[in-house]
Amino acid sequence: MTAFLLEAILYIIKSKLLSFGETLHHRFHLNVTVVCNLACAHCYQENHTGKPVPMPQIEEILRKLQAFRAYRGEGGRGYLTLSGGEPATRRDLPDIIRLAIKYGFMSRIVTNATMIDMKLAKELRNAGLRLAQVSLDGAAKETHETIRGKNSWDRTMNGIEALCRAGIFVVLSMALIPGRNMHEAPLMLDLSRRLKVWAVKYQRLIPRGSAPLNLDTQGEFHRTFVCIIERAVEIKYRRFIMLFDPLAHNLPNLYPGLCKRLYLLITDMCRCDRTRLMEVDYNGDIYYCRVGMALGNIWTDDLAVVWEHPLLRNIRVKTSRGACSCCAVWNRCGGGCPAVTYGLHKDISAPDYACPSWTQRSERDERKNGERES
Ligand SMILES: C[S@@+](CC[C@H](N)C(=O)[O-])C[C@H]1O[C@@H](n2cnc3c(N)ncnc32)[C@H](O)[C@@H]1O
Ligand code: SF4
Ligand code: SF4
Repeated sequence: MTAFLLEAILYIIKSKLLSFGETLHHRFHLNVTVVCNLACAHCYQENHTGKPVPMPQIEEILRKLQAFRAYRGEGGRGYLTLSGGEPATRRDLPDIIRLAIKYGFMSRIVTNATMIDMKLAKELRNAGLRLAQVSLDGAAKETHETIRGKNSWDRTMNGIEALCRAGIFVVLSMALIPGRNMHEAPLMLDLSRRLKVWAVKYQRLIPRGSAPLNLDTQGEFHRTFVCIIERAVEIKYRRFIMLFDPLAHNLPNLYPGLCKRLYLLITDMCRCDRTRLMEVDYNGDIYYCRVGMALGNIWTDDLAVVWEHPLLRNIRVKTSRGACSCCAVWNRCGGGCPAVTYGLHKDISAPDYACPSWTQRSERDERKNGERES
């Protein structure tokens, strides 16, 4: 157990060190299949039919990603997330992990864990997997299943248990979905303790794929982050809490007393200003993080050219305005989540109204207009 703990600490230190300044490295997501055994209400993947990416193609993608890292002068090991669709629908997932390691990537999987039994968990561990992010969209079975479908909870619980028993660190990942599960976000901390997993990660709902068709996409996300932190302080939580959202950068400024008491609270995971999260979809399409616009295709476009895509350049050179122009965390937040503003307005530069500074500003402007009119 001590060795795992040491490995986990090294992993965190390395990722943290790599997230600062110009040495920031790319993180890649590779969707190894589009196939999925669930049909979640919020899924940003628009379809789940198609062939899994053949192994030789995966190898070629890994080679291209490493060549791009070399071109950008990025040394050391790369960071790769294997996702989908559901990556565990592939029986050769352990072989993919071995291949990724061979190509110099530190890999993790993102999974619903419903198909992971003890045998597969051990195979994944033997292949070199150390970290699995398991999606859980409620602290109660009923809530989770209204989003992820009937009979999904028990199977996910079994999967989590198998991964933990095999010695793989598990991070629970919750998508915050207005009107469905946000009230249970703080209770995920209690659940994570009972399940003895390593961390809980929270992310905001992105208006993409089936999400805007099935769900209300706007809600009190910032307030929910605060409730999570308050709960953590209340129960003296001593596991990692990861807030995967640019707006989280502002929390330590707004609530210094609360945040200081949680030394395992990570609020700086999203670094949109550096545009380093690249997703390669099952068909080769390349995305920046979860922004719903394909920037190119790995089979036809050079990654060095994709790096200069106007959307990425715009994210890199964004200038602050409105509420952002006098914000202490502009350099880290970059004005909010481009995947959200693109999903809502087809414009990555539109204000991110989930930020309380923008809401206050809109209210102030409305008040001023009202006074002028009367
Ligand atoms: C597309 S899934 C693929 C991996 C796997 N099938 C799973 O569910 O974990 C990757 C992650 O994206 C999250 N996700 C899917 N659609 C989303 C959306 N519209 N907004 C935010 N997160 C979303 C899922 O909850 C999951 O944690
Ligand atoms: S979120 Fe994951 S499990 Fe749910 S439908 Fe999408 S790919 Fe499948
Ligand atoms: S004001 Fe702008 S830069 Fe500051 S936290 Fe809000 S969205 Fe981010």
